[in-house]
Amino acid sequence: MSTTFRIAPSILSADFARLGEEVRNVIAAGADWIHFDVMDNHYVPNLTFGPMVCQALRPHAVTPEGQRVPIDVHLMVQPVDALAQAFARSGADLVSFHPDASAHVDRTLQLIKAEGCQAGLVFNPATPIDVLEWVIDKVDLVLVMSVNPGFGGQSFIDSALRKVEKLRKVIDASGRDIRLEVDGGIKVDNIRRVADAGADTFVAGSAIFGQPSYKDVIDAMRAQLAR
Ligand code: DX5
Ligand code: ZN
Repeated sequence: MSTTFRIAPSILSADFARLGEEVRNVIAAGADWIHFDVMDNHYVPNLTFGPMVCQALRPHAVTPEGQRVPIDVHLMVQPVDALAQAFARSGADLVSFHPDASAHVDRTLQLIKAEGCQAGLVFNPATPIDVLEWVIDKVDLVLVMSVNPGFGGQSFIDSALRKVEKLRKVIDASGRDIRLEVDGGIKVDNIRRVADAGADTFVAGSAIFGQPSYKDVIDAMRAQLAR
């Protein structure tokens, strides 16, 4: 089976004073999805942007040919439901949340899907994955945190690889079409290892936005994935 790998640059590390331009530039450089990190200074100790910023960026998340590029909203917020709905109505294509931040995970998944978005569950480095078994029929994406959420530019936590291997088995056994995404500390020099563990979608913030040529980084990542 051949995997279609996706690279999802996190605009957390972009220049916030020029976000629309940054989104267009990183798409021109080859981004498949735009990863949008929502932090509420409650679930995580940092504060980023809300649904109005997502809505403002929606028209920028298109290829130079005018094709829609998915906005991958990663909610690091508690409570989840009202914001999940607000993002779904502000141009998000995928909405993921941390199950430990929602009192009723099944209900939150239903709500996201009822809004016409794909729904994802996010697992922190120390969070078990058992909840997935009971809701897998409503999940389109599983996101494995390879850092503790809250900040860009942290180092990759190796135990995430074991979690990815485990989830790959669970997803394959389900026979469902579920993306397995990894977020945190992904660089050109470790992306291949993460893919070998079973991931198919890669978030990278500082690795891409920290370099002068986004295209060089994305090309180098794809070259690693093609090996
Ligand atoms: C962390 C965020 C990540 C972050 C990744 O809480 O969820 O998406 O931006 O940044 P890097 O790639 O710099 O680790
Ligand atoms: Zn993220």
